[in-house]
Amino acid sequence: MMNLTVSDCPIIEIPKIKDYRGNLAVIEKEVIPFTIARVYYLFDVPSGSARGGHAHKNLTQFLVALSGSFDVVLKDGKDQNRLTLNNPSKGLLIKPGIWRELENFSSGAVCLVLASNVYEEEDYIREFEAYQSYKQR
Ligand code: TYD
Repeated sequence: MMNLTVSDCPIIEIPKIKDYRGNLAVIEKEVIPFTIARVYYLFDVPSGSARGGHAHKNLTQFLVALSGSFDVVLKDGKDQNRLTLNNPSKGLLIKPGIWRELENFSSGAVCLVLASNVYEEEDYIREFEAYQSYKQR
């Protein structure tokens, strides 16, 4: 597998139709570089709580703060990048093999996740030490 890094995880602008009645954002197939196999979302996250804390071997994900804000810390075993997601018309692309932690959820925050595959526990690396040895191969 390609050794992807945190710099391979861009913020992508989601096309938006602005209207005095309210904005409408659309994620069509040209916007993200994978076919969506699963959609899930995090909500009612208690303040001070952290999510993530793992990497995926093959999964690509696209995260959008539909409401509120939260921070994402990306790690590739060498570098790290902390971003705040707080805009429903921007999303973060997380490539396979990148460690992620989600924290500092605001009250009412909703994190939408579009994923390239269905849920498979075998695709997770949940221990940071195991992740580091995985990346060093
Ligand atoms: P996990 O991916 O660890 O959550 P997060 O990274 O958002 O903190 O998943 C938490 C639990 O939910 C874990 O027991 C697996 C389960 N789960 C599913 O059953 N299906 C899914 O699509 C996801 C994302 C998680």
